[in-house]
Amino acid sequence: MAADNLPDNAVRAVLSDDELRKNAHEIDSILRSLKRPGIANLADWLKTTDFYKAPASTKYHLNHPGGLAIHSLNVYHRLQALVEAGLVALDPETVAITALLHDLCKANFYGTDTRNVKVNGEWQSVNVWTVKEEFPVGHGEKSCYYIQRYIQLSEEEYAMIRLHMGPDTGKYPDPFSACAAKFPGVAALHIADLEAAFLIESRP
Ligand SMILES: [Fe+2]
Ligand SMILES: [Fe+2]
Repeated sequence: MAADNLPDNAVRAVLSDDELRKNAHEIDSILRSLKRPGIANLADWLKTTDFYKAPASTKYHLNHPGGLAIHSLNVYHRLQALVEAGLVALDPETVAITALLHDLCKANFYGTDTRNVKVNGEWQSVNVWTVKEEFPVGHGEKSCYYIQRYIQLSEEEYAMIRLHMGPDTGKYPDPFSACAAKFPGVAALHIADLEAAFLIESRP
């Protein structure tokens, strides 16, 4: 239970409409400034989804409308910082595409439902986040699929987005370690995602 006595997965309006619009505009402008063929079509499609209004999670980081856009911008800035620190060499276009779109699989992924919960001794109907997974092919996999319907990813970009959650087997070498050894951006995007989700972003 969170500090406001609502369930952790309660829908909380944290951002104003202006803030939602500003974050959406920032991501849209960065994407449209890129030279990658097809990027304008991808940006157009993004606007038809709930990407700019979706939460980043149901009950963990930034679980409020617009949380996914903030998370995507946070990862973008963390990945830029790793490049600026000289830890990894990545083209600015690669930084923008991989960071801003790594969680594209979460577009049209969250829904809401109501739940009766006791808040301060009173029963209340509360809106809660739910998941409506209609294409369960995997997290990074789905992001890559959506992106590649519009633009071509390089091998490194594909590996970065596909493996941004880190190792997914207990074996060595697993695809994450093998790809991170070949493409340093794989480790960098994973680090940027962890920094954003666990060190920067708010939780209920
Ligand atoms: Fe993710
Ligand atoms: Fe993420």
